[in-house]
Amino acid sequence: MRFSMDDVLRYKGKSVVVTGAASGMGEAAARILVDLGATVTALDINATKVAVDRTLTIDLRDRSNIEEVAASIDGPIDGLFSCAGLPGPPFSEWDTILVNFVGARHLAEQLVPKMSKGSAISAISSSAAMGWQGHRKVITELLETEGFDAAVEWLTANEKKWSWSGYAYSKYITDAWVSWWYPELASKGIRINCINPGPTETAMMPAFQDFATKEVVDQSVGPVGRYSTAEEQAWPLVCLGSPRFSYVGGTVLWTDGGWEGAMTMDRHQATWTDTADREMSKNS
Ligand SMILES: NC(=O)c1ccc[n+]([C@@H]2O[C@H](COP(=O)([O-])OP(=O)(O)OC[C@H]3O[C@@H](n4cnc5c(N)ncnc54)[C@H](O)[C@@H]3O)[C@@H](O)[C@H]2O)c1
Repeated sequence: MRFSMDDVLRYKGKSVVVTGAASGMGEAAARILVDLGATVTALDINATKVAVDRTLTIDLRDRSNIEEVAASIDGPIDGLFSCAGLPGPPFSEWDTILVNFVGARHLAEQLVPKMSKGSAISAISSSAAMGWQGHRKVITELLETEGFDAAVEWLTANEKKWSWSGYAYSKYITDAWVSWWYPELASKGIRINCINPGPTETAMMPAFQDFATKEVVDQSVGPVGRYSTAEEQAWPLVCLGSPRFSYVGGTVLWTDGGWEGAMTMDRHQATWTDTADREMSKNS
């Protein structure tokens, strides 16, 4: 079959929503999507510099704000790129789990009824999610909650199970979420996937290095031997959301310069993963 290289990813004239569009990977994704001819609605708590079609302020910690913003976006929506996030300290563990998972999930659930057949949700998780499959029990308890308030209720009642790191827990659960939700979304013709980035040069990086130390962050650099750029994460994310990837659903794309593969094959060591695994295992 022959195809034209013009609009090869099929975004021309498509309507997409990008969260976290004010900075880093979300900003890079919004810029790429504008260049590819999509109509972009940018959502963030801060203002974006990208020349998108519409910008809306959203606070992903706030249920009613999420619902108001979602209600103001018309369908059909062909793509949701869920890029907003917090790194943990200096932000609270609560804000981190709310923005990274609870609010992101609530927004996606509000927008799904407006999403077209053939559309996709593409989220950003992290290579920090490595090994999530070994902790299904504690993850599933939160996945089973219905809606924002029920999730907050579970988090309040089970603070010890996740508050050792709202960031790590939010990433374990995001990897699980795409597999959990896809069977339901597939029946509507909607895909969901996520990328698992390794260390990336964005505004978030100093927070990781201050909190965990640079030495520990550097343990997550894969065989590629360097941090990635925001664009190097945005391109795989935009590709995942393209209808060209129509048979890719409920899965995780490791955008980590080969780190997870090297870890799996004992070709690399990262000691922090033992600590994370131990904390998750207390409840798994
Ligand atoms: N930078 C890294 O090394 C790295 C590695 C792995 C995963 N990630 C993940 O990538 C995603 C993007 O992060 P980034 O590195 O581009 O960081 P970034 O700080 O550059 O961008 C995050 C964006 O989220 C927005 N945001 C924060 N709180 C919000 C709220 N309450 N409501 C709405 N928007 C809010 C910020 O304003 C910002 O524009 C995050 O989920 C992050 O956890 C980052």
